Amino acid sequence: MSKPATTSPSAENTQLKDIVAHAKEYGFVFQSSEIYDGLAAVYDYGPNGVELKNNLKRLWWEAMTQLHGNVVGIDAAIFMEPRTWEASGHVAGFNDPLIDNLDSKKRYRADVLIEEKAAEYEKAGDPARGAALTAELGRLLTENDLAGVKQLILDEKITDPLSGSSKWTDVRQFNLMFSTQGSAVDSDAPPVYLRPETAQGIFVNFLNVQKSARMKIPFGIAQIGKAFRNEIVARQFIFRMREFEQMEMQFFVRPGTEGEWYDNWKAARRRFHEAIGLPAEKLRFHDHDKLAHYAKAAVDIEFEFPFGFKEIEGIHSRSDFDLTQHQNLSRKKQQYFDNDLDPATGKPYGNYVPYVVETSVGADRLFLATICQAFQEETITEGEGEAQTTKQRTFLKLHPAVAPIKAAIFPLVRKDGMPEKAQEIFDSLRFDFRLVIEDKDAIGKRYTRQDLIGTPFCIVVDGQTLEDDTVTVRDRDTREQTRMPISALRAYIGEAVSFRRVFEKL
Ligand code: GAP
Repeated sequence: MSKPATTSPSAENTQLKDIVAHAKEYGFVFQSSEIYDGLAAVYDYGPNGVELKNNLKRLWWEAMTQLHGNVVGIDAAIFMEPRTWEASGHVAGFNDPLIDNLDSKKRYRADVLIEEKAAEYEKAGDPARGAALTAELGRLLTENDLAGVKQLILDEKITDPLSGSSKWTDVRQFNLMFSTQGSAVDSDAPPVYLRPETAQGIFVNFLNVQKSARMKIPFGIAQIGKAFRNEIVARQFIFRMREFEQMEMQFFVRPGTEGEWYDNWKAARRRFHEAIGLPAEKLRFHDHDKLAHYAKAAVDIEFEFPFGFKEIEGIHSRSDFDLTQHQNLSRKKQQYFDNDLDPATGKPYGNYVPYVVETSVGADRLFLATICQAFQEETITEGEGEAQTTKQRTFLKLHPAVAPIKAAIFPLVRKDGMPEKAQEIFDSLRFDFRLVIEDKDAIGKRYTRQDLIGTPFCIVVDGQTLEDDTVTVRDRDTREQTRMPISALRAYIGEAVSFRRVFEKL
């Protein structure tokens, strides 16, 4: 795999740089194989990152399957019979337009170069020109007019962001699927692809699930799993990766009702993002200018990252495209018998290939949005009068439900029975929450360490604890301390970190 292709250095952003550095230093995200200088656009999650990511995935999973009686889950394999990807249209159509610069020898996504030019017009106060350029790009891509795309780059005098050169190759399509050898004995066997979306594992199991779980339309199938794309432009940290995780749900409906379900899921998915702490003003819908080969209607939910509004989730009305394609290629009927009565005829709706509304969110993009939103820097004032000081505080204001560690327990000193008491509290709560005991350094330093990883509560065991079994609980966001009995901790922390608080907002 090559080193990442580059785009404009102006896309670099100081706040993102701080977040990337923070994510590494505090065990959230590491560059993959870093000791060998890394593998482009591939990342590993560290001890805090994996907890945060698992919490996000669990919230999504339960919001889908536990909260909806008509949504069930599956876990399909990454490898699929190669014809799957012919049927789905990915072999023929899952391409990005790429262009090379002859001087710098760098490779770019032609559409991204033009989109960046459009964004420049917008920034310079000419949004109409930017919109016209985006619309023209959409038209050319829909018509697969690659010569037209190149001409647009020349007309707009778009140069290589690194070298300033305008010597471009022709634009050509590049298939994003990774493939590997499927058979150890037959070298002529077709390649096996690493799935570029999890959705197809759901489509090919539609009837297995419908029959085994006795589902009645409308119903959904949810899945979380890895997907792989050989992205030409890899940048913006974990925003665009070559190996990533998707959380997808295909909702099977009666033809004719898909518009209503599309609107329902669009609203429901936006509520989810708000409920986990992404502010409404940083979320927006963006209708697709160019529809993917399978989509009849599509909208992105975008989040305002430090590098601008970008897609975190797609909602797609996929019609009966996928099931019909699989039916045709596999020669196995993908139909459902609907015995509900059609009011128009008084007879059952009968056999049909269901329509599908899809919700598809990247676990890594949701992670990035969450950590970007949580990353806070503030100036705090401590002490009074002459002794008053101000200092900078960095902390992660994560929703307590997704925080990697729910509470840290600090024995004030490492003697007088305080460490033992701290251990006792840890043991009494460890079945309920992920906790840590911290006994090194001054209390202030320990608070700072927990703030940096977003721990919502710090529990201090002090002299008074030994007398009356009370502790102080310090709140990450307000820094206020409340004294309470040890016996109240489970309910207090439990209320704050409970998924129920998120689910009640859905
Ligand atoms: N099954 C539909 C589908 O795959 P998509 O818009 O191509 O649709 C859905 O992808 C979501 O997957 C995106 O909204 C994004 O969150 C995530 N995603 C896609 N490509 C990604 C990549 N290269 N790196 C990280 N996440 C990605």
